[in-house]
Amino acid sequence: MKRVAILISGGGSNMLRLVESMTGDHPARPVLVASNDPQAAGLARAAGLGVPTAAVSHRDFPRDRAGFEAALLEPLLAARPDIICLAGFMRILTAGFVRRFEGRMLNIHPSLLPKYPGLDTHARAIAAGDAQAGATVHLVTPELDSGPILGQARVPILPGDTPETLAARVLAQEHRLYPEVLRRFAAGENGVLEL
Ligand code: GAR
Repeated sequence: MKRVAILISGGGSNMLRLVESMTGDHPARPVLVASNDPQAAGLARAAGLGVPTAAVSHRDFPRDRAGFEAALLEPLLAARPDIICLAGFMRILTAGFVRRFEGRMLNIHPSLLPKYPGLDTHARAIAAGDAQAGATVHLVTPELDSGPILGQARVPILPGDTPETLAARVLAQEHRLYPEVLRRFAAGENGVLEL
C-alpha cells in the first residue's frame, strides 16, 4: 500500500477527491494533509475525514524559503510518504526540496501544459482565443509546471466565458482527472491519461 501526503493552500476540493478515492482496492492511502496556511479550509475538511493534518505557516518564515521548507519537512518526513500530491499548493518549492521527492511528487495545474505555466491560466487562455482549456497532472521537477505529463483533461472554452466560469468547468474535470492519475501512478501503470 502506497502512503500519500497531500499539500494544499486553500479549499482543498482536489484533496478531498483524492482522499475519498483512496478506499477499497485502491493501491494507496492518505497519511497526511499539510498546508502552508493554518486557515486553509481544506485542513478541517481533511481532519473531518480522519486524515492527520499539519500546518506550517510560510508567514512565520519571511524571506526564508529554506527555513519554511525545513519546517514543512518535519511532519512530511514523519508521515513517511511514498507519493506527495500538490493539490492547489501555491508556494513555489526550491530545487532542493523538489529533488528530494523527484519522481514521486505530483502536481495538478489548471491549464493544458505546456501552455500557461504560472498564474492566471484561465484569463490567459481566454485572451489568446483558445478553443480549449483544461488541466494537467504532472511530475514535479525544479522548473515550474514543466515536469513529465501524466494526464490531461480538456474542456471547451465557450462564448461569453469569464475566467470564473471557465475555472469552474475545468475544476470539475480536475476532480475526475487527479484521482484517476493517482490511482494509476500508485499502481505503477505507465502512460498518459487523456480525459
Ligand atoms: C485548482 O484549480 C488547481 O488546479 C490550482 O488551484 C486550484 C485549487 O483548488 N492549482 C494551481 O493553480 C497550482 N499552481 P482546490 O483547493 O479546490 O483543489
